[in-house]
Order: sequence, then C-alpha cells, then structure tokens
Amino acid sequence: MTQSRGNILVVDDTPANLQLLESILQERGYTVRAAINGRLAIKAARLQPPDLVMLDINMPEMNGFEVCRELKNDPQSAAIPVIFVSAAVETADKLHAFEEGGVDYVTKPFQPMEVLARVETHLELARVRSELQRQNQALAQALQTLTRAQTQLVQSEKMAALGLLTAGVAHELNNPLNFISASVQGLQKTVAPVDQLMLLCQDLAGGEAGAALRRLQAWIGANHPEELRQEMNELVSNACYGANRAAEIVASLRIFSRLDEADRKNVNLHECLDAALLLLHNRYKDHIRIERRYGDLPLWLCQPGRLNQVFMNLLGNAVDAINAKPAHAADEEIRVSTRLQERGGRSCAVVEIADTGIGMSDEVKQHLFEPFFTTKEVGGGVGLGLAISHGIVRDHEGSIEVESREGQGSLFRVVLPQFEV
Ligand SMILES: Nc1ncnc2c1ncn2[C@@H]1O[C@H](COP(=O)(O)OP(=O)(O)OP(=O)(O)O)[C@@H](O)[C@H]1O
Ligand SMILES: [Mg+2]
Repeated sequence: MTQSRGNILVVDDTPANLQLLESILQERGYTVRAAINGRLAIKAARLQPPDLVMLDINMPEMNGFEVCRELKNDPQSAAIPVIFVSAAVETADKLHAFEEGGVDYVTKPFQPMEVLARVETHLELARVRSELQRQNQALAQALQTLTRAQTQLVQSEKMAALGLLTAGVAHELNNPLNFISASVQGLQKTVAPVDQLMLLCQDLAGGEAGAALRRLQAWIGANHPEELRQEMNELVSNACYGANRAAEIVASLRIFSRLDEADRKNVNLHECLDAALLLLHNRYKDHIRIERRYGDLPLWLCQPGRLNQVFMNLLGNAVDAINAKPAHAADEEIRVSTRLQERGGRSCAVVEIADTGIGMSDEVKQHLFEPFFTTKEVGGGVGLGLAISHGIVRDHEGSIEVESREGQGSLFRVVLPQFEV
C-alpha cells in the first residue's frame, strides 16, 4: 500500500459533486472522507482531524460559512486549511469566504487540474507552517535551556572562584599563623627567667652587691643564658616571619579582591600572576619549581578580578597535571612567562603557563573548554575552570591557545589585546 498524500474531508450536499471530487482526489493518492452536510462534517473533523477540508458553501440547514466558523473556533481544528467550493462566482461570496478563514476558493464545474493544484499548494503550506511552528517551539525551548544554563554557569563561576580563593587562603594563612602562635607560646616561657634577671639587675644597682652577685651566679647556673638568648631571638624572628608572611598573603588577597568584577582597571599583570601563585603555594611548594620569565609589560587595562580567576584556573590545572603523574621527576616545573606581541595590528599581552604534567590526548583537547568536562575524579574538579576562563578571556576580546603532548606537558597561552582607552 502506498502512503496517503494527505487526508481530505469533502463536504457537499450533492452526492454527484461529492463523488466527482472524491474520484479526482483519490486518483492522485489522497485519502478522502465525504460528509453530506455541515453537522456531519464537524463531527468527522472532531473525530479525526483531516489535513484539509473542501467545503461547499450552499447547503441547507448549515451553510459552508457557518461550518467554517465552527471549525475555526475550535482550537483543535482551527489550523486546518479550508477551501470553499461553490458554483457562485460572486466577488462578495469570495471575499466572505476569506473573511471566514478560508484559504482558497474553487468553482463548479470542477477543473480537475485546478482542484489538485490548489489542494496540493495548501497542504504544502499547512505542512510548512506546522513545521515552522514546531521549530519555533524547539528554538524557544533551546533558548530557555540556554538561559538557564548560563545563569547556572555564572553562579558556578562565582562559587568556583570563591571556593578556590577561600581554600587557598585558609591553607596559606594557617602556616604563618602557626608560626606566630608557637613562637609566642615559647616566648611566654622564656620571658619568666628574663623577668627574674631584670629584678636582679635592679638589686645589683641598688647596692647589695655581694648577695646579688651570688644570686646572679645561681641564675646563670639555672638558666643557661647563651641558650636562652638564642632561643628568644629565634622565637622572635619566627614570629616576625609568620607575621610578615600573613601580611603578604593578605596583600595578595587584596590584589585579588580590590578588583571589582566589572570594572576595568590598569593593573600589573605580574602582580596578579604572583598573587595567584602565592595562593596556590601549598599545592606545589615541595615538588614543583616555579620559573618566572616576565617580560616588559606596561600596566594592562582589564577586569583584574576576573583575569585573576583565569590565572588561578590555569595555574591550578598545571599543578594538578603534574600531581597526576604516577611519579614525580626531580625537575617538575611550571614556567610562567609574559611578553608583549603584535597580533593582527594590535598590541597584545601574552601570558604563557607551561607545565611538565601529564599532558592531554587529542580527545581531551577537543572537549577542554566545554562546561563540566573533566577528567579528574569525583571531588577533584567540576570541569568549569576552562569554560569560565574561556568566557572571561573572550570578554577581553582575547583568546586561549593550547599546545600539549600526552605524557610531556601542556602549554596554555592567554592572548590579551590592548583596549583602546
Ligand atoms: N595543564 C593541563 N594538563 C593536562 N590536562 C589539562 C590541563 N588543563 C586542563 N586539562 C584537562 O582539561 C580538563 C578540564 O579542565 P577544567 O579546568 O575546565 O576543569 P577541571 O580542572 O577538571 O575542574 P575545575 O577547574 O572546575 O575544578 C581537565 O579535567 C583536564 O583533563
Ligand atoms: Mg581546572
């Protein structure tokens, strides 16, 4: 059985007309249902909506215009194209037919070729219209999904940045604060004999030299002043080290956060890179050398807060790539270099972050920048770092280039064109 070209409902109160139309249409491969009056036609259309209706105008009880009106009022059948059929050739009638929602008009006696041409045209139009509607809906849905995903991404961006930052800061501050508190506790103990010593000095100066000298000798025997001095000096310098280090971290943090997200500012990109490296310090300190090759860069106009996130992400990935190696070589290294370069007639700041990590397969390279793509184990990575970084660098009209060999390491190059001020 060949497939029907379409399902057509033919409505006419004259059986001869019905038969004629039926045979013209069936011969062309249409499935035809016939209705002898308006009521039956509406019933048939509700039962099983046809693809098109051919509707006689002059019928007793309910004329074609009334039938059409009912079909158009029912959302289920409103979209079905209606072609009116009549012997009348009055212009007024034709106009009325279009007003009632008809798409076309054929006159009796039928010209089979004309009837078929009109039917085909309107079926095709209806098909195209419904396909358009379907695609429109799909587009609207896609847009909605996209908007939702974007909102989520922006939110995740903030959370990811915040998470990285707080984790880094907590780790980094912990170490110097331990230094300070251990030193201060030690100092508390060493201060007690020094306090005694000061009293003795007072006594000595007060005149009772003989007795005071004896007590001083006893104090020396009990407190080993050379060790005591050494210990005190060490504790004080440790406390100072811790305090300075904590101050450094806080300063880096300020570089990170003074930076209003949306505002463009002129900043020293090397300071940004250093701040990011400092915040990641606890993840690479023992086993990875940081090689800085900073070129001559002027202050750069950018959104520093967001750019810092890019540097954090790229440096974090570099550390991860080295840490993912089954065994560490003695010379694991992250090279951070910067230079000024002319590209496409614009002056660009180029920042390269190269690592000696595990590198990437072609497969990984292909998906690198997709949101939620990660090869890290659960809890290890969300897969947003590069997607977010890509967006940020694109907002700076720049690009991120990647070179990598599996097992040998990777290089990420951030190219930032200079903005016209
Ligand atoms: N320097 C690199 N060396 C090797 N592979 C890398 C490197 N940088 C990124 N990749 C690969 O790209 C994937 C995606 O990186 P991305 O930074 O977007 O997400 P992630 O690091 O897995 O998670 P997140 O950054 O959200 O914590 C990584 O899982 C890793 O497979
Ligand atoms: Mg990452």
